Amino acid sequence: NVKVATLSDIHSFKEYQQIYNDIAKKIEEEDDFDVDGSAGPNLVRLAWHSAGTYDKNDKNPHTNGGSYGGTMRFSKEGGDGANNGLAKGREFLEPLLKKYTWLSHGDLWTLAGVAAIQEMGGPKIKWRPGRKDLSEEYQAPNGKLPDAAQGPDYVRKFFNRLDFTDREMVALIGAHTLGRCHVTSSGYDGPWDFAPTMFDNGFFTQLQKGVGKGEGQWHLRKWDGPEQYEDNNSNSLMMLPADMALVQDPKFKKIVDEFAASQEAFFNEFAPAFQKLLENGIQFPKESKEFVFRTLDEQSS
Ligand code: HEM
Repeated sequence: NVKVATLSDIHSFKEYQQIYNDIAKKIEEEDDFDVDGSAGPNLVRLAWHSAGTYDKNDKNPHTNGGSYGGTMRFSKEGGDGANNGLAKGREFLEPLLKKYTWLSHGDLWTLAGVAAIQEMGGPKIKWRPGRKDLSEEYQAPNGKLPDAAQGPDYVRKFFNRLDFTDREMVALIGAHTLGRCHVTSSGYDGPWDFAPTMFDNGFFTQLQKGVGKGEGQWHLRKWDGPEQYEDNNSNSLMMLPADMALVQDPKFKKIVDEFAASQEAFFNEFAPAFQKLLENGIQFPKESKEFVFRTLDEQSS
């Protein structure tokens, strides 16, 4: 198996915490990265798309994806339409690879996703190092990342391919509390909630209201772009068809209601699901340690 993680004691927790801190400080300093300021949402999406190519039914390491090989740095995977906009995040992180010459792309991108979530107020996510850069031959085929125009059956099937349960997939999509859609990247437009640089359960409290004519509900946006929903109150928030899938399917809806009612419940399920996402397809040695990083705030107090 080529996707075996190297042991974490080659470099110490302290060294990885230092990388975490460098990323966190860079996010703070470069506050003109995007419309909402922070590079954080882009970095979370970079981590997820580096891992989201995984196919649990494919035993061929050349095609079965996952975060291990950092293969989005190559033009085929990097050029997949679903990865539009992520070159910016990869470039943002480039200086870290110059400073820590031993660090792999896969470790850097996944660690950056963890750092971004924690710094934006999200849950602590256990993280393990040991990914190694693989060659071009290990790029997952294009088309392995999800299509936002689809409904509940597609979403369930897609995340089953990544080995996730209903509860895990709903929790993961809750990351849409962060950031926004960019017409120039995906064709879609706008943020999901009013605080796109805060990791909270805002995606679920917005989504929960569903399609309809009432206060806070959602209608189809009238525009030339792809089909997306717009909120009745402000006409400034958005939902993708694949987001709306989570209130159309009764099993998904029940979970959406739970996470809308309790941010704690959402955090408790998001954290292990995100760790699993970043580790899919990688074999970690039994002795490999899980790191839990301290936020900049925690270190300063
Ligand atoms: C952004 C689709 C699941 C995290 C986006 C965008 C689309 C999209 C179309 C807009 C990209 C742009 O225009 O810049 C989907 C679909 C999903 C899914 C169809 C599954 C059915 C996830 C998951 C995560 C995630 C599982 C993380 C755990 C994000 C973040 C952004 C984003 C943080 C904002 C990026 C930014 O502001 O630059 N997603 N996504 N998404 N997605 Fe997802």
